[in-house]
Amino acid sequence: MYKNILVTGGAGFIGSNFVNYWAQNHPQDKIIVLDALTYAGNRHNLANLENNPNFSFIHGDICDRTLVDNILEKENITTIAHFAAESHVDRSILTPSAFIQTNVIGTFTLLESFRHHWAKQNQPQEYRFLHVSTDEVYGSLDIDDPAFTENTPYAPNSPYSASKAGSDHLARAYYHTYNLPTIITNCSNNYGAYHFPEKLIPLMVINILLGKPLPVYGDGQNIRDWLYVKDHCSALDAVLHRGKTGETYNIGGNNEVKNIDLVKLICQIMDEIAPDLPVKPSSQLITFVKDRLGHDRRYAINSTKLKTELNWQPSINIETGLRETLQWYVNNPQWWQPLLSADYQNYYQQVYKK
Ligand code: NAD
Ligand code: DAU
Repeated sequence: MYKNILVTGGAGFIGSNFVNYWAQNHPQDKIIVLDALTYAGNRHNLANLENNPNFSFIHGDICDRTLVDNILEKENITTIAHFAAESHVDRSILTPSAFIQTNVIGTFTLLESFRHHWAKQNQPQEYRFLHVSTDEVYGSLDIDDPAFTENTPYAPNSPYSASKAGSDHLARAYYHTYNLPTIITNCSNNYGAYHFPEKLIPLMVINILLGKPLPVYGDGQNIRDWLYVKDHCSALDAVLHRGKTGETYNIGGNNEVKNIDLVKLICQIMDEIAPDLPVKPSSQLITFVKDRLGHDRRYAINSTKLKTELNWQPSINIETGLRETLQWYVNNPQWWQPLLSADYQNYYQQVYKK
């Protein structure tokens, strides 16, 4: 059965990669993007699809119940892939309320609307509500702890991860209470093209290109498990086609790296591939700065369930994926330069003035 798929947050980093992936791999499906175009949303990410008759874009807020009801009915939506969120931990520390609004109230609004829409169609079992979430809901690991599984208890540590945890619990409850066909995925740190400049990898790349300091929080020993965004998209494809409703699937890249090692690797690759860097070797720009409040030490994902049950595994290692990503930023300054706006500079001042 072809899907009419509503992608919330489809103009953001992962959402737009997912929309581009889906249009390529499932060209018969109809894709409708709903995105509020916050600072993190960018229609240029979807430029390839503007003339595709199976693609449409709606500028709006997931918290707007009337709008969401109308879209589900008019577009005969069978699947929601829910990416829309406030996603940056540092911003959640500065201004948490937007995180509660979009991540909790927004997810609740979508679930309620989808529940009524699904009931009106006599509860088709092939409908899906895919709730895209994060490994940060599981809290922080010590160096020797085993990786997060789907059974790890929730222990969110930032306003961002707490708001995502709240939304996960709602998605879970709607399955258990109403039998609504929800599935939750908890994913590790993504990287790739269209990643907004505030996040670690694009921030380092852009600062290297501009000859600016590379701010490493604390002692740089924090560990993240990096997943190439295209691998995340293929995992979500497996979950949407073969995943079981009411289940959670962890998605990880099998690439645990210390922040300082990652930044050094970025410097090394940039020295090779970027012509005329203002400061070379770029590792001279590395600067240790005051730590993020409540900074989680380590995340690591055990994605055995996804591998054994849905036959998925990541296809790209960090070295290959990073080279491709860094080359993309070097080749596409017209994408990232306009994002370094006055608002962004103001945000940057607030976080890094220390
Ligand atoms: P992003 O910040 O790049 O994009 C978020 C998108 O949502 C933007 O296009 C924004 O305009 C839109 N949006 C925000 N508020 C909205 C609202 N109220 N209504 C409609 N649209 C709204 O985020 P991302 O990094 O692409 O993350 C996507 C999802 O994946 C999020 O739910 C995030 O929690 C989750 N996730 C991200 C990562 C990661 O490494 N980036 C890892 C695991 C999970
Ligand atoms: O784990 C999944 C999560 O990954 C997602 O849920 C979030 O949406 C996404 O933003 C990301 O969160 P992190 O906080 O891990 O990503 P970020 O890129 O902000 O930071 C990665 C690591 O690098 C983290 O340990 C903090 C550190 N860091 C980050 C920045 C921006 C620095 O040392 N310096 C920096 O300037």
